[in-house]
Amino acid sequence: MRLLVCGGAGFIGSTFVRRRIADFGDDVTVLDKLTYAGRRENLQGVDVRFIHAGIEDREAVADAIRDADAVVNFAAETHVDRSIAEPDAFVTTHALGTYVLLEAARERRVRYVQVSTDEVYGSIEQGSFTETSPLDPSSPYSATKAGADLLVASYRHTYGLEALICRGSNNYGPFQYPEKLIPLMVLNALHGDKLPVYGDGMQVRNWIYAEDFARAIGVALEHGEPGEVYNVGGPDECTNLEVVQRILAYTGAGDELIEYVADRPGHDRRYSLSSDRIRALGWEPQVELADGLERTVDWYRDNRPWWEPIRSGDYRAYYERQYGRALG
Ligand code: NAD
Ligand code: TYD
Repeated sequence: MRLLVCGGAGFIGSTFVRRRIADFGDDVTVLDKLTYAGRRENLQGVDVRFIHAGIEDREAVADAIRDADAVVNFAAETHVDRSIAEPDAFVTTHALGTYVLLEAARERRVRYVQVSTDEVYGSIEQGSFTETSPLDPSSPYSATKAGADLLVASYRHTYGLEALICRGSNNYGPFQYPEKLIPLMVLNALHGDKLPVYGDGMQVRNWIYAEDFARAIGVALEHGEPGEVYNVGGPDECTNLEVVQRILAYTGAGDELIEYVADRPGHDRRYSLSSDRIRALGWEPQVELADGLERTVDWYRDNRPWWEPIRSGDYRAYYERQYGRALG
């Protein structure tokens, strides 16, 4: 398949690109703005045509989509805490960017997969969200992602675009930028820095190994029904505190590194997805949290050259603003 993968230099996008080329021999063009989270190194040794541009750039998108059979859109601002501090780029990329991509896909009449998140449903105390649950986003991140989903659905409904949406739960694994819970805690534990747990640490997330999510997106791309939404949840639900304790155990660091800090404003308590629809297409997750977390800790331990430039660059200033303390 000839694929245009937007946001393919990020964490999940690069995982998807590597898998598609290795497993299916796809011909891939990556279009990526290379924001702080997008890194060319994530595609090192991977044979792609690379276009450095934003999805909101009409001309670049027109060039990128030229020979594509399908578009998969990962491009996004993805960190909830950043969306609370500076929502601007979230609106531009999710609203305007998704619109520009949809227009190009409509003109070229190609299949379109929007990569989205369980956060569009909001928080759930008990049970799990299905694809027909109402959208009730809480943060500027999830609200703008929900807006993008609605725009995608409108292009299916109004113009008959072959559009699908995949909503994943919390991803983790190699190549994840260390602002997110798991890589942040792994690197802090490896350095003997404090592990900042928001509030009481009893918030629950449904964890999925990024390779499992990437595989599900491929299944939806090839076998999904246009107009459908596919929830893709991981095999384990776990409190943040339990995740942090497991990381301490795998890295050999002590409990005294845990530091309870002020809670995130508007913090969603629990996410949970039912994934029956994607499972009916033959997909199921293969990596459980215990195994995936150990693999992830090993990857960060063995790939210092990947994260060292991050921890010594602008990230330090971000960290100080976010946590009110310097990295060690
Ligand atoms: P990431 O932050 O690691 O990567 C995002 C990528 O998008 C980066 O390469 C960045 O440079 C690029 N990008 C940002 N704005 C762009 C723009 N305007 N034009 C082109 N490229 C742009 O994110 P990720 O964790 O890999 O997430 C990928 C997608 O999966 C996102 O749409 C996100 O909402 C969704 N998702 C993420 C998770 C998760 O837990 N990380 C869970 C479910 C869904
Ligand atoms: P995060 O990785 O930011 O993903 P999301 O907010 O999209 O679920 O956070 C996962 C959970 O971990 C969330 O409940 C917030 C919490 N958290 C902390 O307790 N401390 C931290 O330093 C971070 C980044 C997150």
